[in-house]
Amino acid sequence: MKSALVTGASRGIGRGIALRLAGKGYGLTITSRKDGDLQVLEQELVAAGAPKVVRHAADMARRDCLPALIAAHEDGFGAMNALVVNAGVGTAGKVADYDLKRLDKTLEVNFACAVVLIKKSLPMLRTAAAEDPVCGARIIGVSSITGAYAEPGLAVYGASKAALLSLLETVNLEESARGVTASAIAPAFVDTDMSDWVTDRIPKDEMIPVEDVVRVVDMLLELSANTVVNRIVLSRKGTNGYSA
Ligand SMILES: NC(=O)c1ccc[n+]([C@@H]2O[C@H](COP(=O)([O-])OP(=O)(O)OC[C@H]3O[C@@H](n4cnc5c(N)ncnc54)[C@H](OP(=O)(O)O)[C@@H]3O)[C@@H](O)[C@H]2O)c1
Repeated sequence: MKSALVTGASRGIGRGIALRLAGKGYGLTITSRKDGDLQVLEQELVAAGAPKVVRHAADMARRDCLPALIAAHEDGFGAMNALVVNAGVGTAGKVADYDLKRLDKTLEVNFACAVVLIKKSLPMLRTAAAEDPVCGARIIGVSSITGAYAEPGLAVYGASKAALLSLLETVNLEESARGVTASAIAPAFVDTDMSDWVTDRIPKDEMIPVEDVVRVVDMLLELSANTVVNRIVLSRKGTNGYSA
C-alpha cells in the first residue's frame, strides 16, 4: 500500500489533496489541530477509498509535537511515498506596520515545521523510494506565489514561503539521486477559508479552485523519479502573473 502524510488536512487545499490520495488508494496519515475535524475527514477518506487512515492531531507551531506525528505514520505504514507539507497560516501587513507578535508563529508553521517534518520523514521516504525506484518518493510543499514574487503587504508570509521554496530545491540537490524528490506548488489566491479576508477586492469565483491545486498534486505524484520539478507557480487569470 502506498502511503502519504498530509498536514493541514482538515480543510481547504489539504482536505482536497487527502481526498484525491484516498481515491488513488493511498493509506493516509492526516493531521491538523482538532481531532474532531480529523474524525469527520477520516470517514470521508474511507468512503473515498483510503485503505487505512491514521489520525494525529498536532500543532505545527510546536516543534516538540512533530516527532510523535512522524512516529504515528511509521507505526501505521513503515514507509512513506508522499509527504505533503501543506499546513500554513496567513499573515498580512506591510513591514512598517507588521504585528511582530505574529512573526514566530508564521515562521514556525510555514517554514520551520517543514524542516523538521522533512528531516524526520527522510528515512521513510528513502525506504519507499528504494522499494519503488520507478516512482520514487515525493515531498510536496504548498508554498505561495508570494514566495516566488514579492508582494507589498505580505512580506513575512512571502518570506516564510520563499524559505520553503529554497528548502525544497535544496532537498532535490541532496536527495533526488536516490529517488526522493521535492516539489513546491506556489499558487495565487485559492478559494479557501484562508482567502476570506480579501474577498472585498477579489471575488471567490475569480480565485484558483482547490481542485486545480489538487490536480497539480496528482500530476506530480504520477511523474517518474527521473523527473525533478522544483516549483510550479499558479497565477490567477487577469493578473500580471506575479501577484497573489
Ligand atoms: N488560500 C490561499 O489563497 C492560498 C494561496 C497560496 C498558498 N496557500 C497555502 O496553502 C496552504 C493551505 O491553505 P488553505 O488555503 O487550505 O487554508 P485553510 O483552509 O485555512 O486550511 C489550513 C489548514 O492548515 C491547518 N493549520 C493551520 N494552522 C495550523 C497549526 N498551527 N497546526 C496544525 N495545523 C494548522 C488548518 O487546520 P486547523 O486550523 O484546524 O489546525 C487547516 O487544516 C497553506 O500553507 C497556505 O499558506 C493558500
